[in-house]
Amino acid sequence: MHEGDIPQLSLFPLTTKVDGQRHLLIGDCDCVKLCKKFGTPLYVFDEDTLRSRCREFKAEFTRRYSDTLVLYASKAFLTTALARLIGQEGLGLDVVSGGELSLAQSVDFPREKVFFHGNNKTADELKLALDWKIGRIVVDNFHELELLNSLAGAQGVKQDILLRVNPGVDPHTHRHTTTGIVDSKFGLHLANGQAEEAVAKAISASNLNLLGLHCHLGSPIAKTFPYESAIDVVFKLAAELKKRYEFSMREFSCGGGFAVRYTTEQQVSSTADYAEAITGRIGALADELGLARPRLIIEPGRAIVAQAGVALYTVGSIKDIPGVRKYVCVDGGMGDNIRPAFYEAKYEALVANKVGAEASTMVTIAGKYCESGDILARDINLPPVAAGDIIAIPVNGAYSIPMSSNYNMVPRPAIAMVKDGEARLIRKRERYKDLLRLDIT
Ligand code: LLP
Repeated sequence: MHEGDIPQLSLFPLTTKVDGQRHLLIGDCDCVKLCKKFGTPLYVFDEDTLRSRCREFKAEFTRRYSDTLVLYASKAFLTTALARLIGQEGLGLDVVSGGELSLAQSVDFPREKVFFHGNNKTADELKLALDWKIGRIVVDNFHELELLNSLAGAQGVKQDILLRVNPGVDPHTHRHTTTGIVDSKFGLHLANGQAEEAVAKAISASNLNLLGLHCHLGSPIAKTFPYESAIDVVFKLAAELKKRYEFSMREFSCGGGFAVRYTTEQQVSSTADYAEAITGRIGALADELGLARPRLIIEPGRAIVAQAGVALYTVGSIKDIPGVRKYVCVDGGMGDNIRPAFYEAKYEALVANKVGAEASTMVTIAGKYCESGDILARDINLPPVAAGDIIAIPVNGAYSIPMSSNYNMVPRPAIAMVKDGEARLIRKRERYKDLLRLDIT
């Protein structure tokens, strides 16, 4: 069997191979053995793929625009081990809650490269950020501007900030993941003058140091033109603000949203495509508008971790409704991956112990949760499947685990990191007693 004959393998981590027993190998570890050792559902992350994606983003952007800072958007997936890896690779960290912030703090992440986002940061969260003296707080709204100014004043510090502006550009993502449009809870709108008003306020706030502007359109954005449109809008604003307030946009972030392939038929821009479009547009506009070239900040989340992560499940019951559908039920589902139910996200799958066997049966992979919408992959072709087989769903490294829940009081999966034939758990499987830990009897 030639691995090139199985198109789904291109969705899996970069180290993926198939052995003579038709078993799926990731990081030179046999996925079937990993399931025996750690149980299922099991999320497996490939260290080489994670590092390679970090390096690719850094290289593609800095080659074209040397003053680029790549922040990993940690909401896509965060554990202690991953935060350490991101730090080793020299990326910064975008955090969006006190929880993500304190994880970063616990690994002593370089604080000057921590950026704090969010549309409703609480006073306690902002205090945590000020106490730890993080690099930037990305201020989202007027309330936060005033609150942060007074909290920073109380501590006698001047906090570096960016302002999140909302450019009113529609990236045409799923409606749940579109943020840069007029009807959005995120950011200060350009069109109605709020962004300008916020810049004026930030400049005169005695405990804030406004370094630049941030925008994020949504996620995932498969094409490059929405980024270019947003850059046009924000840079034109920056030029106006320079005239009116002598504002100098020393930093500019165009957010995250870089897409990945979830299915073999999907096509998305490459990292080089994004880098070319974004850096090209920034350079051209800065020159055209007479602005100094700002430091560029990008915040990929999904694109760093998605392909590195694979979900492994054991098949249990199989329900064949002749002429209608064949449901293959696995021991996980919407509790560990809500994305199909929430975003109609599409996934493909392989049988990890039968890779390359003829995919002769159309099945639907269903989860174990008490909801009809608990479907992980609909109408996909697999080899004949039996109870005990291992289903591997690729491109599961982003947003599955962070959005997971204990619905139906099902414990969350274990997570393993693999590299060069070694596998180590980076998060333990929850136990029933973990589910009861906070209950008061
Ligand atoms: N920066 C900001 C300000 C963001 O809000 C986000 C994502 C990112 C960066 C990273 O976006 P990425 O590069 O990962 O696309 N749960 C959804 C995605 C929600 C994205 C939220 N914000 C999903 O599973 O598709």
